[in-house]
Amino acid sequence: MKFFIDTANLAQIKEANDLGVLDGVTTNPSLMAKEGIKGDDKIKQHYKDICDIVDGDVSAEVFGIEYNEMIKEGEALAALHPQIVVKIPMIKDGIKAIKYFSAKGIRTNCTLVFSAGQALLAAKAGATYVSPFIGRLDDVSTNGLTLIEDIRQIYDNFGYETQILAASVRHPMHIVECAKIGADVATCPLSAILALLKHPLTDTGLAQFIADSKK
Ligand code: E4P
Repeated sequence: MKFFIDTANLAQIKEANDLGVLDGVTTNPSLMAKEGIKGDDKIKQHYKDICDIVDGDVSAEVFGIEYNEMIKEGEALAALHPQIVVKIPMIKDGIKAIKYFSAKGIRTNCTLVFSAGQALLAAKAGATYVSPFIGRLDDVSTNGLTLIEDIRQIYDNFGYETQILAASVRHPMHIVECAKIGADVATCPLSAILALLKHPLTDTGLAQFIADSKK
């Protein structure tokens, strides 16, 4: 399973990349705003800076929600760097835009997916990635991991090549469960990736080994 980091924070992207396990980055307008990145030029430069750090796909989201806006923005984003994947919301015009980009060989990530039916549409339109938001489903008392299972089954039934990018990951068990189900990618906050390192028996075992090595 590929690991993406879900942030626009350059320091966190560098830290995850230095660990040697990072395969890509996802951003969204909220994550860009959190870093104070405003204005077309600054946003574009920020995406280029991210691409310079990581050797993998970088999702850059369009702001427009109307077909022509999404096409214009998406083409400009894709032209920035070969690693850019255009992130498009799961709406009617978004599906049309994904179909357009797919025909042009521009890679897409269909975002804000909360149902198997939406994921089926994204695959049929030719999305490179589909992003089901598992944490936000858990937040409303719906099992987000069940959605990943359903999409995996549907895509396997018909051989869809769209990659399942589990998004809105909140904790390390989300990552482990996504790997068990067969998600292609999990996009995670740095905290969830680092939490995978931790086990108290590792800490006590290492302390004992260090102590014994001095005997
Ligand atoms: C990723 O592509 C999504 O934008 C992101 O995972 C959303 O996560 P959140 O629910 O923590 O905002």
